Amino acid sequence: MAEHLTKSAARNIFYGGSIFFLAVFTALTIHTHFYMVNVATDESTLTESVARGKHVWERHSCINCHSLLGEGAYFAPELGNVWIRYGGKQSPEGARLGLKAWMRAQPTRIEGRRQMPQFNLTEQELDDLVDFLEWTSRINTLGWPPGISG
Ligand code: HEC
Repeated sequence: MAEHLTKSAARNIFYGGSIFFLAVFTALTIHTHFYMVNVATDESTLTESVARGKHVWERHSCINCHSLLGEGAYFAPELGNVWIRYGGKQSPEGARLGLKAWMRAQPTRIEGRRQMPQFNLTEQELDDLVDFLEWTSRINTLGWPPGISG
């Protein structure tokens, strides 16, 4: 065994290592992309109203107070699982009514409670938002968030 690393051996390790890890990185990136598109995202139920609901969500910057699947602000509850929290799995109609009633009833003006503004959304916008939140709750997040609470 050589006592010292020769210049060419060092070069080969550098290039070989770089190429190897670049290949691993590329493969993982491709895997992630296809996982997101084919497994994690429920594309078959990605309807027009879900897309419209996302636009309502963006127009009113709900993310400035809320988080969605962990991303966003931590002033108000996580909404990625709000559909499940409102019992959407057992009673989709009940959850829809509950969520819409909640948004219509804001702000509660209850002393000492953080407040959500009134956005004066139309019936259509509210339904689209609920469709968006329902769809979001079906994204396979590998168990995130860990609990049901927001
Ligand atoms: C200025 C901050 C703020 C913005 C912007 C905001 N919210 Fe909220 N939201 C809150 C707060 C605070 C609460 C919790 C209030 C409470 O529990 O009394 C809340 C609660 C909710 C809840 C009920 C969550 C639960 O678990 O019961 C829903 C649904 C909701 N918001 C939807 C939205 C949507 C949709 C938007 C955008 C159109 C939005 N919020 C924008 C502050 C905000």
